[in-house]
Amino acid sequence: MAAALYEPDLGYYERTPSVVGRRGDFQTAVTVGPLFGELLAFQFATWLETPGVVPENGALHVVETGAHDGRLMADILGWLRTWRPQLVARIQPWILDPSPRRRDWQRETLGRAGFQVEWAADPAELGQRTGGVNGVLYSNELLDAFPVHRLAWSRTRSRWQELGVAWDGERFVGRRMPDESVTAATPDLHRLSELPAELLSVLPDGFLVEVCPAAADWWREMAGILRSGVHVALDYGFPDDTVLRPEHPEGTLRAYRAHQVSGDVLTDPGEQDLTAQVDFGAIASVGAAAGLRTLAREPQRRWLTRIFEATLNSESGFSEWDAPRVRQFQTLTHPEHLGRRFQVLAQARAAT
Ligand SMILES: C[S@@+](CC[C@H](N)C(=O)[O-])C[C@H]1O[C@@H](n2cnc3c(N)ncnc32)[C@H](O)[C@@H]1O
Repeated sequence: MAAALYEPDLGYYERTPSVVGRRGDFQTAVTVGPLFGELLAFQFATWLETPGVVPENGALHVVETGAHDGRLMADILGWLRTWRPQLVARIQPWILDPSPRRRDWQRETLGRAGFQVEWAADPAELGQRTGGVNGVLYSNELLDAFPVHRLAWSRTRSRWQELGVAWDGERFVGRRMPDESVTAATPDLHRLSELPAELLSVLPDGFLVEVCPAAADWWREMAGILRSGVHVALDYGFPDDTVLRPEHPEGTLRAYRAHQVSGDVLTDPGEQDLTAQVDFGAIASVGAAAGLRTLAREPQRRWLTRIFEATLNSESGFSEWDAPRVRQFQTLTHPEHLGRRFQVLAQARAAT
């Protein structure tokens, strides 16, 4: 999955920025229009201006990961520049992205909008160069794009086995890996083996779950560099902490191409998006273990609706809810569009 999505020059997210969007393979909240970024900017400003969230003086950081073509950051900074000029003067924007090609796309979008941004490859580099973040770390539809591992239940052998990818001479195929294989998912494999025996005994052979150690590791690393402020992720995932989902016996890993979804994830690597539902329960507990306090874990539509309500009660820059804005809000929150499956997780560390 990592190679299919991120291999330099060949990976799906290395090819062209337009894979995301109406004319590409799938829409995101960002490609619906600027409103999503404007609502986020309003919420970020509220956090940053609330006493005790970040230090009263000094530089603030606003850091995006998974910025793709930079459009969301341009929307956020654009709103802040217009409506919170004093705050924006304190903000140093950063993007975390290891890919030189995507940095070029981002530089172009943000440069056109008149913004200067710094880049780091990963949380370790960001931590080193900033000495720790005071501000807001955010991402939209990033965690679902981290490579997952697939674990299959073997009924005959009463154990979980990781699925690997093999070449059968004509195509890529899924293969159960030998029991002695050790991968980043091995701790999860042991954890799932400790589920109650009566539950495991009714699982059909081949029942699949995904685990995503890369997402958990990333959240832990980001928590490690957050000195004060909020880390917020928006993505699609399940609202509760259930580990096994009878309604998804084949797991949730899917391929997207031209707005069509398919379970055929091994076909045409680099030509289709690969994505799996985010286990927000696992991510939230990683943050809690790193000392973060959960501010919000709820459906995105409810969270955005609360931000919308707050905009009505303030001199906020949201006085004009014109027709395009209302239409975008409906697309973001209506269950038939983006309102059903998306969740938000926001965790914070208070300033000392
Ligand atoms: C589904 S797209 C979402 C793009 C954008 N955030 C939006 O909402 O429209 C996922 C993006 O995350 C990026 N990505 C995945 N892993 C990353 C990582 N470790 N660091 C930075 N970006 C990453 C991909 O390159 C891709 O641009």
